[in-house]
Amino acid sequence: MGQGFGKAFEPEDGVNTAGNPSIHEVDGERRHVLRCTSAAVALLMGSHTLTGHAATAATGKPLGFTSVPPSRADALVVPPEYEAQVLYRWGDATGIAGAAAPDFSADASNSANDQLLQAGMHHDGMEYFPLDNNPRHGLLAINHEYTDDGLLHSDGMKTWTADKVRKSQAAHGVSIIEVIERGGVWRVMPNSRYARRITGNTPMAFGGPAAGHVLLKTAADPEGKRPLGTLNNCAAGQTPWGSFLTCEENWNGYFSAADKPAPDELRYGMRAKGFGYRWHEFDERFDAVKHPNEPNRFGWVVEIDPQDPTQTPIKRTALGRIKHEGATTTLSRDGRAVVYMGDDERFEYVYKFVSRDKVKPGGYRANKDLLDHGTLYVARFDSQGYGRWLPLVHGEGGLNAAAGFADQAEVLVKCRQAADTVGATRMDRPEWVAVHPNTGEVFLTLTNNSARGQNGRLADAANPRNDNIMGHIIRWREGKGAGGSGVFDGDASATEFRWMHFALAGDPNAGKAEYRGSIKGDIYGSPDGLQFDAGGLLWIQTDISTSAMHKGAYKDIGNNMMLCADPATGETKRFLTGPAGCEVTGVSFTPDRRAVFINIQHPGETASERGDPAQPKAVSHWPDGPMGGRPRSATVVIRRKDGGTVGT
Ligand code: FEO
Ligand code: CA
Ligand code: CA
Repeated sequence: MGQGFGKAFEPEDGVNTAGNPSIHEVDGERRHVLRCTSAAVALLMGSHTLTGHAATAATGKPLGFTSVPPSRADALVVPPEYEAQVLYRWGDATGIAGAAAPDFSADASNSANDQLLQAGMHHDGMEYFPLDNNPRHGLLAINHEYTDDGLLHSDGMKTWTADKVRKSQAAHGVSIIEVIERGGVWRVMPNSRYARRITGNTPMAFGGPAAGHVLLKTAADPEGKRPLGTLNNCAAGQTPWGSFLTCEENWNGYFSAADKPAPDELRYGMRAKGFGYRWHEFDERFDAVKHPNEPNRFGWVVEIDPQDPTQTPIKRTALGRIKHEGATTTLSRDGRAVVYMGDDERFEYVYKFVSRDKVKPGGYRANKDLLDHGTLYVARFDSQGYGRWLPLVHGEGGLNAAAGFADQAEVLVKCRQAADTVGATRMDRPEWVAVHPNTGEVFLTLTNNSARGQNGRLADAANPRNDNIMGHIIRWREGKGAGGSGVFDGDASATEFRWMHFALAGDPNAGKAEYRGSIKGDIYGSPDGLQFDAGGLLWIQTDISTSAMHKGAYKDIGNNMMLCADPATGETKRFLTGPAGCEVTGVSFTPDRRAVFINIQHPGETASERGDPAQPKAVSHWPDGPMGGRPRSATVVIRRKDGGTVGT
């Protein structure tokens, strides 16, 4: 590939510094559309033009910042024109009204009840929701993906108790915090009427075709409609109607299965003792031998209304049960919701959901059933740069009782098996999806796959490198006419697409051909987080593992990082580098693009951290410094020192 989309479909993805106005600047009532194509937004808003609203005209040249070199320092490094402020660390007060959180104790002696009022651990996907006409006052919804129990408890996992299990569960889930900027300084609002912690035990509901299905029924919930908690919340999304979508990724790790799990359990990676969280020792719910349907109640996209702390989060079963990485929502030309989702595991698939109904004005309340009705598709990437979306609909494509699918609910619960049946393309770990704000072009990170090339699962057109430890970014344009004279106009509801690679990650001078990259500009490996800003700049965050370094794939890429790319030219510049042992994730912008929020996850991570609180401390003291004790995942806000547009 690499020939472009053809003359009729040239990407019109030049970067717009004048600020493609977001809905925040266009419509005071529905200020939540951040990531829809202009055409789709215009349709939703009932207007035909979005020009002339650049009240907050951007300044500076795109990618005009000074590139940051690779770093192995235990520090967050941003360009000299920028400044970074740590805003919300693990253990900081969430600001819940009427419940002042106890101070964080540097020796991790806070109780489980303390943790319920404090930031959870290991921040990941995040979205910013402006609250009023001030673009710099809003809510942040932040995922807390997992716990490192070596760090979470004073003595790590040397002893193990029910209280430790409760604290670990309380450190999972989501934070909703209220944030505001004054005089260039951001702070988390105390006593906020919005602030909320959602954990591994928060009461939730099921929505969609699998709600109440026999596969979701348990002894504690015989109706199969009231699950408890959300776990391993990885990437996320924001809907055009203002809700937060949080995604359950490696949920299998919390359950202890039988020594020989059933085939349907094995397909999702269930095993005895899971990943070693040891919850099942004190909370029977996580013993999958005793409660075999409880794992079916995880692996979903969960919808949360950040504006209503009393809302019951809903697990949207119509979007399928996988190891959900993210849920990036855009609008089709006719105003329906389209949600793109990766299943992050080696040789897994890319999905999209297209709603049956159109998005209505009126926020979450008017759209609270929208994600319960629609069609789920999985992607097939054919050679020659075309692809198709294959419907996962009971009765079609071999999805019938003989194949193990009694009804649509079973197709959704066994979504991976359904995708196997229809012949989707096995990808190199699909992580985040980003949709260009003007063209609707879709970008997807494929973070790596060291097993590509083994056991007959060879490189293919879309995943072109065996031993793909550096990963790649693929892009496509939706439309119709694959294989012929097609029209790929970027309508997100289309069932065909034209694809090409954006970049193969890695050092272009690497010794081994498989590790060589095709990046134009600063190099990186293992792209993971991916987000467009409203001006069409593409932000790339990395999660490269130390094992890639050990394989000799690179010498000096250093710590994980965030880069900024111009999708029209491919030019890529390194914008920041994170502290030692971290992953950089969770990118979200204020609508005026004067600030970007990111998350630094697991500073100090080592290969064998679990159970030993000393190990991460030896690697990183970020952000509190050597006197501060344990490294802490944290939300960081970054702004240009002169108040200009981020990315220039
Ligand atoms: Fe939680 Fe796939 O990263
Ligand atoms: Ca990720
Ligand atoms: Ca990752």
